[in-house]
Amino acid sequence: MTKLICGRLFRPAALVTLLADGSVGVTLRAQEKERPIPQVVKKDGRYALMVDGTPFLMLGAQAHNSSGWPRMLPKVWPAMEYLHANTLEIPVYWEQVEPHPQQFDYSVVDTIITQAREHHVRLDLLWFGTWKNGSQHYMPEWMKADPARYFHLIDKNGRTADSPSPFCTASQELDMRAFTAFMRHLKAFDPQRTVIIVQVENEAGTWGSVRDYSPAAQKLFEAPVPTDVMKAMGQTGGGSVNWQEAFGPEAEVNFHAWAVATYVGKVAAAGKAAYSLPLYANAALRDPIKPGAPGSYEAGGPTDNVIPIWKIAAPAIDIVSPDIYMNDPAPYLKTLELYHRDDNALFVPETSGGASVARFFFTALGLQAIGFSPFGLDYSTTPSVPAGVPATVPVAGAPPQDQFASTAQNYRLIAPMMRDIARLNFEGKLQAVAEEKGTPSQTLHFGAWDAVVFYGAGRNNRAPVGNAEPTGRALIAQLADNKFLVAGYFCRVDFRPAAADKRRQFLRAEEGNYENGVFQFIRILNGDETDNGLNMRAEPVALRVSVGVY
Ligand code: DGJ
Repeated sequence: MTKLICGRLFRPAALVTLLADGSVGVTLRAQEKERPIPQVVKKDGRYALMVDGTPFLMLGAQAHNSSGWPRMLPKVWPAMEYLHANTLEIPVYWEQVEPHPQQFDYSVVDTIITQAREHHVRLDLLWFGTWKNGSQHYMPEWMKADPARYFHLIDKNGRTADSPSPFCTASQELDMRAFTAFMRHLKAFDPQRTVIIVQVENEAGTWGSVRDYSPAAQKLFEAPVPTDVMKAMGQTGGGSVNWQEAFGPEAEVNFHAWAVATYVGKVAAAGKAAYSLPLYANAALRDPIKPGAPGSYEAGGPTDNVIPIWKIAAPAIDIVSPDIYMNDPAPYLKTLELYHRDDNALFVPETSGGASVARFFFTALGLQAIGFSPFGLDYSTTPSVPAGVPATVPVAGAPPQDQFASTAQNYRLIAPMMRDIARLNFEGKLQAVAEEKGTPSQTLHFGAWDAVVFYGAGRNNRAPVGNAEPTGRALIAQLADNKFLVAGYFCRVDFRPAAADKRRQFLRAEEGNYENGVFQFIRILNGDETDNGLNMRAEPVALRVSVGVY
């Protein structure tokens, strides 16, 4: 039996077989073709995450850190359903996968994948390996019990830090081995491509020490900076100056970024050689506007100042990504800009996502984001229940209603049209914006037309004043020269011909909704509903609009 759900085909489980190395493989049934391996592709300066061969927009939600266990999953799936998320980000713990040296246990991973298929959700698996938030807490117990062999870094005062040394080749080799085994297993177990992307480590780097000060690290710090690092950072003199001479006050943080990225890059490359899924590394950020001195933020990870070092030292990492926990719009928006680069697709794998920043999902879309994923959206640890959640949902862990509701509102609108949105964005036909306080209108340029987005616009076309809270957001895609797809919340959209002597008229304004990826006509809007523009409120609607001039 085949089911069509949100434009995706789901068939019952394929045949499971035991492979020679003891791991489990999957043979697809005769009628099911092996799907293409997901990829990050770039065309005309724009990126797409290709899933099943076409652009995919990840409407993600990340589970809490300790939710990746079979008996916790019943608290995860109802949240995904409520949110209309199409991808679950969930950790895979090295300590669980390799409980004894070289004895790999994929039972938990397989349960997560199997249940994700049943719930029609894709997966972004987070490899909690050598680093998790700067520490080695997810290394297997047998490694943590042997700190002499799997050593930590040494801080400036000669003390052992709660952070693994990036120069510990013993740990690195084991992480490479485990990550490779895990990726090889995914390849065998998941020809359906339920897993579409993998995060390598989690917020790699170090809190509380800017670098490793061990004698071995010190020797490298005093050695010449590798030429490719110098070049990547726009410096000359590669191969002849040391880190201090090359980078002055930024020397130590750059050195640590190079050391951590080199380690993570090797782990990533080893895993990718086994199974070439898209890989990314996430950063605990520094404030992009007032960054503070090195030491005031986690050092070593792909913070905005060292992205070129990460690109050079870890080429198997497709994307470096910001974990955005800033609620102030200025640094939030600046961060989105900084990670939307010619050499990097924008992907937000973690964010606070509450009501005050949920609209920035649209800003990210406007920067061609391939995905967005607020953190901590399962029902495992916090006490309230979000509005609209069926009573059967376990109440014991619902996160604050605010964060659930805002994300659900975004995804409810976009999920049914996700493939169109991802394709239009990849083709450069889509623009999206979010309201900024004090800016009651924004203008987007589409060739012969400008689209103007108004916030807090009243009746009879009175000047917009902005919403009481800046909740407005809109996306507009050009389907043909004079035809647009419009969707959003809490705003009015109108079109103006670029030619000043002309005025616009709506030839036809269709209101509809998407079902299984296809626009379904509901009615033609006219009269009061279009006299002053196209009004979008709290309900998800999609509009297809043809405009002309007179
Ligand atoms: C960022 C980390 O990457 C997540 O795993 C989690 O620890 C959140 N911070 C906040 O709890």
